[in-house]
Amino acid sequence: MATNRTFTMIKPDAVKNGHIGAILQQINAGGFKIVAMKYTKLSAEKAGEFYAVHAERPFYGELVEFMSSGPIVAAVLEKDNAVADFRTLIGATNPAEAAEGTIRKQFATSIGENAVHGSDSDENADIESQFHFAGTEIFG
Ligand code: CMP
Repeated sequence: MATNRTFTMIKPDAVKNGHIGAILQQINAGGFKIVAMKYTKLSAEKAGEFYAVHAERPFYGELVEFMSSGPIVAAVLEKDNAVADFRTLIGATNPAEAAEGTIRKQFATSIGENAVHGSDSDENADIESQFHFAGTEIFG
């Protein structure tokens, strides 16, 4: 996959609180093109697999339970410098530390329930996109 892509999830808290539309609007306004998207729900097993890199962290159980607690929106986004620019758009993992105007500052409630996920590297963007989407579901 091209390195001008990143992967995101609108998490169960933001979906439940009715923020899908506002978040997608900010993503588009930030210059990102949505090249794949689905409304879905992760099983606990799938959430555990997605976040396996955090398996040894004390918050892993809580993270898996939360991410499988309700529907999410998964999407692949395209833009020059997508990974870094999307992390700027969403703000710090902890919304208390997120900059004004960022998606997490506006919509996240805590470090655990932080509204959106964004890939942290080109390599992980590719892995995470393939976790959720077949090649035929991505329209670049
Ligand atoms: P995300 O960007 O999806 O990647 C890993 C997630 O783990 C992160 O967002 C947070 O939602 C969650 N996380 C990170 N640190 C903590 C923490 N200290 N307590 C609870 N959840 C956390």
